[in-house]
Formats: sequence, C-alpha cells, structure tokens
Amino acid sequence: MSEQNLKTSLLGFSLNSPLMGASGTFGYGVEYAHMVELPKLGAVCGKGLTLHGQYGNEGERLWETPSGLMNSIGLQNPGVEHFIQVELPEMEAQLRPAGVAIIANLGGHSEEEYEEGAALLSASSVDMIELNISCPNVKQGGMVYGVKAEAAAQVVRRVRAACTKPLMVKLSPQAEDIPAMCRAVEEAGADAISLTNTFQGCAIDLEKRRPVFNNIFAGLSGPAIRPLALRMVWQAVGAVNIPVVGLGGIATGRDALEFIMAGAQAVQVGAANFVDPRVINRIYDEMADWMQANGVKSLDEIRGCARG
Ligand SMILES: Cc1cc2nc3c(=O)[nH]c(=O)nc-3n(C[C@H](O)[C@H](O)[C@H](O)COP(=O)(O)O)c2cc1C
Repeated sequence: MSEQNLKTSLLGFSLNSPLMGASGTFGYGVEYAHMVELPKLGAVCGKGLTLHGQYGNEGERLWETPSGLMNSIGLQNPGVEHFIQVELPEMEAQLRPAGVAIIANLGGHSEEEYEEGAALLSASSVDMIELNISCPNVKQGGMVYGVKAEAAAQVVRRVRAACTKPLMVKLSPQAEDIPAMCRAVEEAGADAISLTNTFQGCAIDLEKRRPVFNNIFAGLSGPAIRPLALRMVWQAVGAVNIPVVGLGGIATGRDALEFIMAGAQAVQVGAANFVDPRVINRIYDEMADWMQANGVKSLDEIRGCARG
C-alpha cells in the first residue's frame, strides 16, 4: 500500500482520513472495530437517535434492487440517554484511542424533541452532531423538515441555540431546491452539511401483489444513487461556504475521489458496508494508490479540482 496522506481536517478536527461510516449502516462503529483498520477511518456517524427510544417499522425493512438497497427501518434506536450511558462509553473505549471522531446522528419528531436531544448530546463527549432532517421512513418524522427550506431553517435555528457542539446538517434529496436548502441551513447556523440521505422509492412484491414496505415508499441507497448524490454535492459546494460531506453510493476509492474532486471535504460510506464490512479499508487503499500513481500527496491538492 502507498504512503499518501489522507488526513482530513473538518471543523477543527484532524481526521485519520476523509472516510466516515454513514449513519444506520455502521452501528455505533464498535461493531466494525475488529474489521476496519481504525487508522483508515475518519469518523463514525452512529445510528440515528431520537430523544426517546423507538422500535422502528414493522414488516419488510430491507429489499435489494439492481445496484441498490431499499430500507424502511424507521429509526429504531435506544434513545439519546441510553446512547450516552451505554453506547457512547464503548465508542470512547474503542474508537477514541485510534483517533476516530465520534458523531451522533440525531433525528426527531418535533422541534422540541430535536432541541432537547441536541442539548443532551451537547453535554456528552461526542465530537459532533449530525442532524438528520431527512429520514424518509418515519411518519411525521424528520422528513417534514427536509423538504421545505423554511422548515429546515427553523429546526436548525432551534437546535443551534441549544447545541454547543459542531453541527452538521444532513439533507434529503427530496428537498425542493438543493442550493436554497443549503443556504437556508447555513444561515440558520449549520457548521457543515452532509448529503444525501436516501431517495424515496417503491417496490412491489409480485407474489403478494402488495407493496414490499408497509409505508409503501422506502429509502433507496447504494451505487444506483451515486450520480444523483454527486450532482447534489456539486450543487451544495457551489451554494455555501461551510464544508460539505458527500455520500451516496460510494463503494470504491474512485467513487470517493469523485466526491472530493467535486469539492466535498470528506465522504461517508453507507450501504457498501453491508456488501463488505471491510470496504472502508479497501476504499482507503484505492484512494491512496490512485494518489500515488498520479503524484498527489494530499487530498487538499485535488479537492474541488473538477470545478475548474
Ligand atoms: C439500513 C439503513 C439505515 C439508515 N439509517 C439512517 C439513520 O438512522 N440516520 C441517517 O441520517 N441516515 C440513515 N441512513 C442513510 C445513510 O446514512 C445514507 O445517507 C444513505 O444510505 C446513502 O448512502 P449510501 O448510498 O452510501 O448508503 C440509513 C441507510 C440505510 C441503508
């Protein structure tokens, strides 16, 4: 393996690499700690939390499609307080010594819930909060805030006031207008933007003659969405002055480099972890190999280069 430097700065943190485990696909990181080489992992975005624990959706939750994965988990999680008492100490023990940043992903059903969750997490040892205003699988859930820029700005303003941690806001591809949404959350106090969450899709089970998912629609992720996500990351980078973290279908080093060349500060890896739980090791090595072959010593040399 080559010796290129993939260290990445983000909001004052020096990350081991630009690669993060995406929320909902990487547990709390500790589940992967024996498979992923931690010096190659920049951060872990934990499974989406809500203030109170919830069981998630009934019925089918995962469904494969060509080059993609549909999910309808419904934010199953143990709740913020349980996370702080039980999961976070495990993350601290296993991830912190290896310099992996700890990011809590927070969803919610109301502005009050978001605000209270963010206040609790602010008092914990997490490094950053990723605000999920984009979950498509929860009725009356985060998604209402993910479509309209004014609604997004309102919840981000409330959370910003309650939150003392760096705040990364995760956008939905269902936003009415991506550049307008990006500017709205930046003005409301976001320190960074991550995008995208899953795209709403639908599948029918022919044998049952019914939709696969109880909610009929579910979130599509994986390589199928990558060009769409990359387009949105390109738009986001052009719209704001805060760092943009890109994700959607990244499965190889070349995929990750595309997002970096579009201007992403860092990238997250989601569904690809289900295909190969060690995929982040390979993505890191492939990035480093490409950099070495092309005489690139650090990602700063190529970040945003495709924009001309
Ligand atoms: C099974 C599953 C669960 C997910 N849960 C969450 C979640 O709790 N919070 C969140 O912000 N995103 C969640 N996501 C979305 C991913 O973090 C990511 O935004 C999306 O899958 C696109 O990236 P990918 O194509 O690399 O998977 C989930 C995705 C999957 C596949």
